[in-house]
Amino acid sequence: MTVFQFIQTEVHDRVGLVRLNRPEALNALNHTLVSELMSALENFDQDAQIGAMVVCGNERAFAAGADIKEMAEASAVEMLKRDNISQFDRIINIKKPVIAAVSGWCLGGGNELAMSCDMIIASETARFGQPEINLGVIPGAGGTQRLARAVGKAIAMEMVLNNRTLTAQEALQFGLVNRVVPVERYLDEALSLAGEIAGRAPLAVRLGKAAINHAYESFLSDGLADERRAFYLLFASRDQKEGMAAFVEKRKPNWKGV
Ligand code: CAA
Repeated sequence: MTVFQFIQTEVHDRVGLVRLNRPEALNALNHTLVSELMSALENFDQDAQIGAMVVCGNERAFAAGADIKEMAEASAVEMLKRDNISQFDRIINIKKPVIAAVSGWCLGGGNELAMSCDMIIASETARFGQPEINLGVIPGAGGTQRLARAVGKAIAMEMVLNNRTLTAQEALQFGLVNRVVPVERYLDEALSLAGEIAGRAPLAVRLGKAAINHAYESFLSDGLADERRAFYLLFASRDQKEGMAAFVEKRKPNWKGV
């Protein structure tokens, strides 16, 4: 069995569960965590005993975004060369359904990860946002593209440009999540939905998922490539350094617009 540093895996009947497990950093998505998560999902995808998957965090946080400390000092060229975000793309090739079970903070790359899953079950305490603007950057792992498709342009603009955070009920109202349940039940609800789907015709489930995703594919890849270039480019700005340094030093950023 593979031993992981930042995730835990479990099997519940025909459902593979991945728990993000970096609670001291609110499950901030560093490079190792994301690549472990993707490896675990790929392993479940290959396992004939598994019919669907669930990804969860803990009650306080699904994930509070990409790891700011890992990238705060990076140059645009370093970001481009590391291309950590390409790890996120691996989820696109998972053929079985993946459900995100979200409680607490679901921010930045965390929200982008949840939106890369096929469905989202939210606890009443879940909070969804793209706070990258506070750091002097924009979402870089699909946030501008998938969010606009999920909640529409108006709400996506507020979230990306002005750090609007959605409550679980708002996320339900805007179509970001499938359902909202009390915090004690969010994981069971996700496991139960995944279990039902895992009990259905596997090929139809597989092709149904692929067909629905195809509906979103036209020009999405162009949008993602564009978004990524812009995200990396922002690491050439002074405001990115200032925004991330201010976060690490727990102070307010002083924006210069350069
Ligand atoms: N990266 C690195 N560390 C993080 C983190 C992140 N995204 N989010 C939280 N942490 C760390 C904090 O630094 C803190 O660590 P220390 O105890 O060592 O100081 C620990 O997790 C607990 O966090 P807080 O003390 O800040 O907890 P809080 O309850 O006061 O606040 C929060 C919670 C509002 C979520 C706050 O932690 C926060 O604003 N986090 C950053 C959210 C964010 O900006 N996400 C976007 C990241 S950029 C991105 O995701 C780019 C992309 O599109 C790929």
